[in-house]
Amino acid sequence: MRIGILGAGNMAHGLGGLWAKAGHEIKLSHRGEFAEAAAFGDVILLAVLAEGVPDVLRTVDLAGKVLIDCTNSVVPGEWTVGVSMAHRVAELAPKARVVKAFNLCHESVWRDDPRKLVPICGDDPEALEIVKSLVTGIGCTPADAGPLSRAAILEATAAFVIGLSVSGFDPREALDG
Ligand SMILES: NC(=O)c1ccc[n+]([C@@H]2O[C@H](COP(=O)([O-])OP(=O)(O)OC[C@H]3O[C@@H](n4cnc5c(N)ncnc54)[C@H](OP(=O)(O)O)[C@@H]3O)[C@@H](O)[C@H]2O)c1
Repeated sequence: MRIGILGAGNMAHGLGGLWAKAGHEIKLSHRGEFAEAAAFGDVILLAVLAEGVPDVLRTVDLAGKVLIDCTNSVVPGEWTVGVSMAHRVAELAPKARVVKAFNLCHESVWRDDPRKLVPICGDDPEALEIVKSLVTGIGCTPADAGPLSRAAILEATAAFVIGLSVSGFDPREALDG
């Protein structure tokens, strides 16, 4: 599969590296290169900081493309979220098939052999199947977490987990049985 990545930071390198190892063609993009990466990919990973998302999505044509949104908009210090990024992304790219995924774990997880459970939210059954195959392809397990309207819960969970970590707690200890 051809995967265009909007962004060239930690998440782009981590997930892009894993997908490249799994045999996919990857194109990362810095500022000024987003349209090229969007045109290249059948699947697009949105991996820029939340504040850049509106400008980035205005410069690209994502009609019909599967758009994986891994972004979080977390207020530093408060560890709260304002608007749901997935909701914004779907509004800004109305012709894309948006799937929320990969927003829960710290980027360092994707540099190695992750073996994680990856909750995903989306409304397009075919797009969900494609993203699930990209999750299993890197040795992880997809968890269908419902429609895109539930992505806000995943984003709030990320904020909560980050807040716990910053306070010196291991969030996994709150969840493990
Ligand atoms: N880091 C994590 O552990 C983690 C985990 C889950 C989800 N996420 C989410 O994944 C996304 C990417 O995170 P990251 O850790 O990969 O960040 P990063 O390493 O800081 O990279 C951010 C990317 O976004 C671009 N960017 C930043 N501001 C921009 C703007 N105003 N307009 C256009 N492009 C802009 C950067 O370009 P330049 O290099 O040119 O600045 C860079 O390519 C974020 O939304 C984050 O919330 C991160």
